[in-house]
Formats: sequence, C-alpha cells, structure tokens
Amino acid sequence: MVYKVVTIFTVLLAVLIYRSGRVLKHNVLSLPSLPEAYYIGGDYKERCTIVRDETANTINYCEDITFWDHLDEQDRLARRFVLLGCDPNRKAWNTVMGPLRDPEPFAFLWLYSTESGSLHPVTLDNYPKGHDFHPLGMEVYPSKVGAPSNLFIVNHARANTTIEQFVLDPTQPTRAVHVRTLTSPYFVSPNSVALTSPTSFYVSNDHLMTRRLPSPFGKTLPVIESLAALPFSWLAHVTISPDGALQHKIVAFGVPFANGVAVSHDGSQVALSATTLGEVYFYDRNQSTDDLKFSHSVPVPFLPDNIMYADDGALIVTGHPHFPSVAAVAANKPGAKAASWTVSIRPISDTTRAKSEKDFVKRAYDLRAPLSASAIAPAVLTHEVETLFQSDGSVFGTSATGLVDTRTGTLYVSGLYEEGMLVCGPK
Ligand SMILES: *[C@@H]1O[C@H](CO)[C@@H](O)[C@H](O)[C@H]1NC(C)=O
Ligand SMILES: *[C@@H]1O[C@H](CO)[C@@H](O)[C@H](O)[C@H]1NC(C)=O
Repeated sequence: MVYKVVTIFTVLLAVLIYRSGRVLKHNVLSLPSLPEAYYIGGDYKERCTIVRDETANTINYCEDITFWDHLDEQDRLARRFVLLGCDPNRKAWNTVMGPLRDPEPFAFLWLYSTESGSLHPVTLDNYPKGHDFHPLGMEVYPSKVGAPSNLFIVNHARANTTIEQFVLDPTQPTRAVHVRTLTSPYFVSPNSVALTSPTSFYVSNDHLMTRRLPSPFGKTLPVIESLAALPFSWLAHVTISPDGALQHKIVAFGVPFANGVAVSHDGSQVALSATTLGEVYFYDRNQSTDDLKFSHSVPVPFLPDNIMYADDGALIVTGHPHFPSVAAVAANKPGAKAASWTVSIRPISDTTRAKSEKDFVKRAYDLRAPLSASAIAPAVLTHEVETLFQSDGSVFGTSATGLVDTRTGTLYVSGLYEEGMLVCGPK
C-alpha cells in the first residue's frame, strides 16, 4: 500500500516537474536577478515617466489598460486613447489571488490621451444600483468616423463575476453609459476579453476551482490548481443577441490558468496566456465560426498576464517574473516589491530559420536586456522573444499589461499592485 502511494506520488511529482519545472525553478523558487529598470528605447531615467492621479490617487492597481482607437473614413487611425481600469481596493478584494474581504469600494476608469498626455476620469452612467464595480480584463471596439463604441469589462462583483457592457461616445468620451450586465453559469472565472465584433468576444476563464468556493476549498483548491499548473481552465466565445441573450461556446479547453487573450488585427489568429506554464499559446481562428485550432506555443521568461497585438503585428506580452513576490505585495508584507517584464513576440521568417535549422532552437536570444529572456525560456523555431521593459520592482512593479503604440514607439505599462501608469517614450 505504502509502496503504491509512493509510486503514485513520485509519478505525479515527475509529471509536475516535467511540465512546470522551468516555471517552478525560475519564477517561484528563485528570484530572477533583474535590474532596477531597463527600457529597450534608451535610458529609462530619460525615457520613462509614471503618470498618476495626483489629487485622489485613484490610478492605482490597474489590472488592465486598453487602446480606444478612433478611425477615419479610410479606417486610418485618427486618434488614440488609453482606457485604464484601476481598483485601489484590490488588496481587500481580489477574486483571483484573494482576499475576499471587502467588495464595497468602487473601482475607477480613466482615459489618457496619447496625443496630449492629459488624463480624465470616466464616469459610470446608468450603472445598476447596488452592483459592485471591480474591473479586470476589458476591451473597447474602435470608433469609426465618430460612431459610439461598445466597451466590455470583466467585473469581479461580490456574488459572481459578470461582464459589463457600456457605450463610449467620442462626443462625450468621459462618460461610460451602462447597457447591460452579462451573466451566465458558464462565467466561472472570467479574466480577459478580446472582441470579435461590437457584440461578440472571446473570454478566458482562469480557474475551474475558484476563491469563491466555500471554506476550506476556496483557499486551497485554486492554489493547488495554480501551483501544479493543472490544465483545467478554458477560453470561450460569446455572442450577444439583440435581446441580450448569450450564445456561449467553449473553444479551447485544458489550458493551465488561461489569462490574457487577444485577436490579431487581420482576425486570423488568437493568442492566449497559459500563465502557470509560462507560455503563450497561438491558435488559428476560423473567422466564420470563431472556432480555434492550436498552432504554436512560445515560452516566455515570466508568468504571462495580459497580451495585445501591436499595430505592426507583434504580440506584446506582460507578466510576473516571480510569483511569491506578487503574493507578498498583495498580502501587504512590509517592504515587499514584485518585478515587471514586458516582451514582444514575433514570428521568424522561414529563411532565417532555414539557415541553421538544427542549432536554431539552441540559440541564445534577447541579448540586449540585462537579464536576457534566453536565460529562462528556451528558444523556439517559430518565434523570437525580445525584452521591451524589465524592472526588479523598484522603478515599476507587478506589471500586468503592456501596450505598444507603434506609430510613436511608446510603451504603456500598468501594474496589478502599482501606483500610476508607466509611459516610456521613443528616442
Ligand atoms: C450573479 O449575480 C447576480 C447578482 O449580482 C445575479 O443577478 C445573477 O443571477 C448571478 N448569476 C449567476 C449565473 O448566478
Ligand atoms: C470554417 O468553418 C466552416 C464551417 O465548419 C468551414 O466550412 C470552413 O471551411 C472553415 N474555414 C476554414 C478556413 O477552416
């Protein structure tokens, strides 16, 4: 009997180490030796600033930021804003990492103009009475020639996680008018959304077993699911009918901690963070059915959180280099800081690859960065990973989302438990 148990335990441990040994070694058990800060565009002290809400300090703990693009008649980009979802109360209410102490204080939306650098608070109009507001993933459809945009925000409300639908009108850009609350028994743990039309989207669910489970399960099972990188989470596609009814289908299952999701600009590809595996999955997308077919997986040197496709097609991936530090910051441990890391992922052309197919996966890459991604994540044949920003947390910590405006070469980063938004300009 004992022999059997030991055998089973050993096999499970071997599988665990085989699957997530790299992440356990580099992102859990040891602290990556990151610099104070590094920015690919030049000296961070000259290029980077942190924009804040100087009066009330509400641009804090922004899990997600996203571009709101205004297009002209020819679908060219005319104006671009950054929309920020910030929850200064996150240390009292976080349904992914805990705790679940106080859902009462409302979170904040802000609008940042990439042209003028001005900041404006966004009001929630027509918001249902008594309904909490705790934004996580969000995305807003581009406005075409002044038309209003649909905005979707994952909301960690107290009873369950919902998705709030708003309208943003370019004539009154600082008012988010609430349209409806989307709720479904399938919304077990929504985290991130990626729109496929003004009324349909992909939504990741990060855990099968959540913090919302009754005690003691809520405090143990999600941690086991995370630490063992159990492939229990999924990506779904949701279409909203004109009457508000939802059509829901699961398009990818068996993902360890499905987190950030993004659709490529031509609509043919979907990328998804598999956080606890330290990898980003790429899928080919059928644009008439929204079904997905797995195509590639690319390891990154941290636990990937939110992702976005930049204008030039690169996938921008941001995340957490050291999980225990994030937990320490979340738990308010004195002096705790947690690192930040943003990379780009680009497909490699066949000709580059053909040169030395055999040794290509053994190559060192990302050699400009003080801590090269290469030191942690093995190279792959299909994609190249390059560091855009990294910090040990002393300059900017707990990075959750990075956005790149390719027109100007500007990088925007928000931090799960960080104050303000990092803006790094071009040379
Ligand atoms: C989620 O909670 C809301 C109240 O905030 C309730 O109206 C809704 O029915 C709940 N949804 C599910 C699927 O339980
Ligand atoms: C997309 O799905 C439809 C319906 O199943 C199928 O007819 C079509 O061939 C698919 N397209 C691609 C590109 O696979």
